[in-house]
Amino acid sequence: MAANIYLTGIKPTGDFHLGNYIGAIKPALAAAREYDTYYFIADYHALNTIKDADELRHSIRSGAATWLACGLDPEQTVIYRQSSVPETFELTTILSALTPKGLMNRAHAYKAARDRNNEAGITDLDAGINMGLYNYPILMAADILIMEATRVPVGRDQSQHIEYTADIAGYFNHRFGSAYSFPLPKGVIDDSDASILPGVDGRKMSKSYDNHIPLFLPENKLKKAIRRIPTDSTPVEDPKDPDTSVPFQLLAHFADEDRVADVRKRLEAGGMGWGDLKNELFEAVNAELAPKRARYEELMAEPARIDEILEAGSARARERAREVIDRVRAAIGVG
Ligand code: ADP
Ligand code: TRP
Repeated sequence: MAANIYLTGIKPTGDFHLGNYIGAIKPALAAAREYDTYYFIADYHALNTIKDADELRHSIRSGAATWLACGLDPEQTVIYRQSSVPETFELTTILSALTPKGLMNRAHAYKAARDRNNEAGITDLDAGINMGLYNYPILMAADILIMEATRVPVGRDQSQHIEYTADIAGYFNHRFGSAYSFPLPKGVIDDSDASILPGVDGRKMSKSYDNHIPLFLPENKLKKAIRRIPTDSTPVEDPKDPDTSVPFQLLAHFADEDRVADVRKRLEAGGMGWGDLKNELFEAVNAELAPKRARYEELMAEPARIDEILEAGSARARERAREVIDRVRAAIGVG
């Protein structure tokens, strides 16, 4: 059995926040130290929502720069743009011919968009839904299968997409398996609540809740954002429950264990105010992010350098994709 290939798509929509860093970027970079990793900027997925060329161009570079600044090593990880691997789109067409339409009708993201229309009292439930959203699961299956990836680190909201990918690969294998079979991918999904970073209001940090703290806020703005996290009016000298405190939960993800244990003790004993806790939190977040923020700004000031890295990665990714598409074409009778 060939070694596992880890692959994930980076949605280049909007700026990244602390939740993305803790839940997606950090674990994926840890995996990159151990496995063969293919990480790509999902720019054609982003086209479903971004319809402005300058904005898309900026988002692609910003997405790549964010991951590079956080420590992605382009020698170790193949980092590329989805749009630079056209074999993906050829495979999408092939897989579309094998995928039942009903499967797409049942996809969560599509159903959720219809539900939103329903709740808004719109009678045409497909209003405002483009075919890109509808076909999204097939394109995502092609992203994964074109690299013969076997492990896909994603958030839990993506688990249906991975199941669909395995189903779609199964349809292909059933039909053409005597000539070529795709390996069936598995999601690498951290289901524990501990992996979810809360937002400033205590719900999961998310752009859609507008409770997020952007990853590369300038230092003074980061300090302000942390100061503004709502806390109750327990007086400084009173004991406090760390486990129901948002700043403490955030601290637990950014400070080292000893520091977290020390702060826990001080909160429980009384005498530590929320302001002190927020100072601790700012110091910990800033210590982790300041060097990355500086690297991000350096990279963004040199877009040609980012493009060069993505092009080199794309050439490597494409080599692999070509081998796979050649075998697929031969298997289905067009090659
Ligand atoms: P958002 O909810 O802000 O739109 P995305 O859906 O774009 O975030 O998430 C991109 C990646 O970041 C996914 O892998 C997701 O699991 C991870 N992620 C997002 N928010 C959090 C969070 N609050 N805690 C941990 N991981 C998160
Ligand atoms: N759909 C993923 C998300 O919303 C991004 C993505 C696109 C992806 N293609 C992929 C993730 C292939 C893993 C594998 O976050």
